Amino acid sequence: MQVFEQVHALRKQVAEWKKSGHSVGFVPTMGNLHDGHLSLVKKAQQTCDKVIVSIFVNPMQFGPNEDFDSYPRTFEADQSKLAKVQADAVFYPTVDEVYPKGLGQTQVCVPAAITGLLEGAERPGHFDGVTTVVCKLFNMVQPNTAFFGQKDYQQLAVIKTMVEDLSMPIEIVAVPIARDEDGLALSSRNQYLSEEQRQVAPKLFTVLQDVAVAIGSGNGDFDALCQVATARLMSEGFDGVDYIKVCHADTLLPAHESDGGKVILAVARLGKTRLLDNILL
Ligand code: PAJ
Repeated sequence: MQVFEQVHALRKQVAEWKKSGHSVGFVPTMGNLHDGHLSLVKKAQQTCDKVIVSIFVNPMQFGPNEDFDSYPRTFEADQSKLAKVQADAVFYPTVDEVYPKGLGQTQVCVPAAITGLLEGAERPGHFDGVTTVVCKLFNMVQPNTAFFGQKDYQQLAVIKTMVEDLSMPIEIVAVPIARDEDGLALSSRNQYLSEEQRQVAPKLFTVLQDVAVAIGSGNGDFDALCQVATARLMSEGFDGVDYIKVCHADTLLPAHESDGGKVILAVARLGKTRLLDNILL
């Protein structure tokens, strides 16, 4: 497995692969890899000849009081996990390589209709950081296909919007959420949980599943269902529920009963840790 720290070397290799007729798949990550990330790599390997994984903790998508400095950086361990699943290359740039003129240069901003709600409302500016870095990474890697997890459902929707609006010649593939045996969605932030919090955490998925069952059996009072679910999470031991909402699967606006695709999106807090989960109906 090759490791590239510089854009020019990476581009040279990608150009050679493409010249030989290989398709190139790309999995952007911030590292601290777990089986959720590796499921994206495996999915990419099913359809692409060569798979590149990027590891870059993007300062632009963290708010001033968020965990940029303490975000776990575990390159050695990540590298061996990627070698084991036989990824073809890792792109591991420095902040200077990605932002040579610093932050605050040209940005990619997707309209507030989709970036201003849910996570965007909780984390102002977050999605501008995500779309700017993903656009830059796409231009650096120039893949045919890029793979994103449904775990970060809104991020996926925002990236699909960016790709469509800017006519980027890249196919976006969504990969289902990888979970622990007890249902907890895998996340780098799960390691912040104490043993006690870890016991409570899977209840988020249990409660979301019950909401999904209720909707499936014809209950159309989404607000009432979400209120009950919030109360249940609080009584199960969560410290807060940022939101539970039933949304239109593409626009993420509040869902109507007649909408074709719906998604239940939730964020609940245990201590300082925000746990994201969702179920696509
Ligand atoms: P990161 O949180 O490292 O996630 C990288 C990718 O892995 C994302 O597409 C995310 O949705 C996916 N992922 C994480 N946990 C998952 C799980 N349990 N099941 C399936 N997929 C999962 O998301 C980011 O990094 C950054 O915002 C990034 C897109 C790299 C831009 O900086």
